[in-house]
Amino acid sequence: MSEAIQKYSKSAIILHWLTALIILALFGLGWYMAELPQKGPKSTSLDLFDLGIYTMQFVEAISSRTFYFNLHKSLGVTLLLILVVRVYIRIRQGYPAFPASMRDWEIKFSELMHKLLYVLMVAVPLLGAATAVYSKYGIKWFGLPLVAGLDDAGLREIFKESHEIVGWILLVAIALHVAAAIKHKVVDKDEVMDRMLLK
Ligand code: HEM
Repeated sequence: MSEAIQKYSKSAIILHWLTALIILALFGLGWYMAELPQKGPKSTSLDLFDLGIYTMQFVEAISSRTFYFNLHKSLGVTLLLILVVRVYIRIRQGYPAFPASMRDWEIKFSELMHKLLYVLMVAVPLLGAATAVYSKYGIKWFGLPLVAGLDDAGLREIFKESHEIVGWILLVAIALHVAAAIKHKVVDKDEVMDRMLLK
């Protein structure tokens, strides 16, 4: 850990915002795909999110549920790969010193929250990956087969429930994290938020 640096490095900042974007997309996609019919029609074309903006074409006919599930898994695996790099950078570079105006308990609490966020950010995709592995379908990464499905309904159900519950805990932790960042900017008017901005 280095106490001397004032800001996170460019790579740490870019990976922070990239993971934030992917995690939000994964929540949206997860809720969207869960509502799609299990035995929906298959087609070789699909209007992306029914927005009338972009129509995807496929070689083989697939259902929209299959398409969005595969997209969710592919983005989730990508997130895991990015998190490996992010954790490595965090361990190598540490984090910038907190402003002197922050009290000891505030610093301890935010350090604890950051650790919890890392644990949850890794746990949720791992539980999702376990759900997929114990389903019939396994995991493909943008079409590339990674793991075959083991088709164990009992274990799949356990991991599916855990993926959902720990996902909600992650969402609450993210909401607290965002609220804390806004409080630093608006109420405390200190430089905590600026340390994570590219400028
Ligand atoms: C931070 C990363 C992730 C987030 C935030 C996330 C979020 C979600 C959400 C919100 C749902 C819908 C739950 C529901 O209400 O039914 C879901 C379902 C699912 N996720 Fe993820 N997910 C993540 C990563 C992954 C990964 C890496 C995989 C697999 C490689 C995965 C596989 C699945 C599967 C298979 C389901 C559907 C379970 C079912 O209904 O059978 N997820 N996810």
